[in-house]
Amino acid sequence: MTEHLRLENTSRLYAEAQELIPGGMNGIRRPYNFVPGEYPVFFDKARGGKVWDVDGNEYLDFLCAYGPIIIGHREKEIDKAVIEQIKEKGFCMSLVQEVQNTLAKKLKELIPSCEMCTFVKTGSDATTLATRVARGFTEKAKIIRCGYHGWHDWCVEVKGGVPPKLYEDVLEFHYNDLQGAEDLFNKHKGEIACVIVTPIGHPLAHEVEMPKPGFLEGLKKLCEANGAVLVFDEIRSGFRVSIGGAQKEFGVTPHLSVFGKAMANGYEISALVGRKDIMQMLEKKVFVSSTFFPNSLAQVAALKTIEILQRDNVLETIKERGNKFAGKVEKIVRKCGIPAKLTGSPWMPFITFDRDPQEHYKKIRPAFYTQLIRRGIFLQPFHHGYIAYRHSTKDLNHTAEMIAESLEEAKKAVHSSL
Ligand SMILES: Cc1ncc(COP(=O)(O)O)c(C=O)c1O
Repeated sequence: MTEHLRLENTSRLYAEAQELIPGGMNGIRRPYNFVPGEYPVFFDKARGGKVWDVDGNEYLDFLCAYGPIIIGHREKEIDKAVIEQIKEKGFCMSLVQEVQNTLAKKLKELIPSCEMCTFVKTGSDATTLATRVARGFTEKAKIIRCGYHGWHDWCVEVKGGVPPKLYEDVLEFHYNDLQGAEDLFNKHKGEIACVIVTPIGHPLAHEVEMPKPGFLEGLKKLCEANGAVLVFDEIRSGFRVSIGGAQKEFGVTPHLSVFGKAMANGYEISALVGRKDIMQMLEKKVFVSSTFFPNSLAQVAALKTIEILQRDNVLETIKERGNKFAGKVEKIVRKCGIPAKLTGSPWMPFITFDRDPQEHYKKIRPAFYTQLIRRGIFLQPFHHGYIAYRHSTKDLNHTAEMIAESLEEAKKAVHSSL
């Protein structure tokens, strides 16, 4: 049994934060989303594929800031481009800078659905804007959704503080359930503005799902037959699954799509892209504006990130390493004798434990992730991980070994407690 981590500084800062900030920090970073008492709460620094907490513990970082880190932390070339922009030009002005056009041209060149684009800051900005544009274009109100699309009123999962009228036109279906989507179209004939769906299914704490043959194509057909807009939420899959997004990988071009997270390797930017006639709603009919949306630093970071992704075959390398890692981990999981699965490979690996009626999985899960964090592997028990370019083959082989050891230890710990 490995030892409990030293977490004195984390504990002190967390106690202080709880007096200053409700919950100590924003939602998903809170300790209950990890294994409370076992995981750090504060990081100090990061570099490449690693992070260090405020007690000096070092981890291989497979959460990658929940997706933005695609190359690695503190990439010198990207930071240098950003610093040059700060020093030589500035980034916060009353008009836009030329880099806006350069980035837009790049997205148009790379993303199949991109005839025009616009830049915002967060994934939630982009998904909300997509639904507003679709509603403006179709002059219909209802939205069919599938997946996590952020914290705004129309889609937030925790409904406190949100009047029902703000989401009552939003209907849900399950990923890969084409019939479910068709039933909603039939029930609400002529009322659907758009379907918004993540091209890869990644529901919280559940296995990651790849699209069944015909699912994404079927959604597009349904939308086109019913005068609705198909929106791909590529906030997680964009600039990770392929340089043109999951839409390129799976060969289905939506009418609109949104990108964020990995687009600028950690700098805050997102984009709505799509068909010209739909995007042109933003010229007169549909409003979007925010003080910081046109700032150029993240645009510079995005351009440099994309340049590196293309130049160094980053995504192909991640895919290849991710597949090899998956091959190893799948064998380990099969051999361990615990009902568990690895899904999401090669891009978003996630080890989940099968839900049994006795709910043993609720004990095995924290036991396993406790063992992993004690061995310096940073993953989140309820969320898939991500592989970054700076995770070397050696890092991934080591992680596979740590997974094997942690599964064995978790098995022993849980069996002795039953
Ligand atoms: C698929 C998807 N869409 C939208 C969002 C919201 O993005 P943000 O947290 O940047 O607002 C997320 C965030 O995790 C996401 O995973």
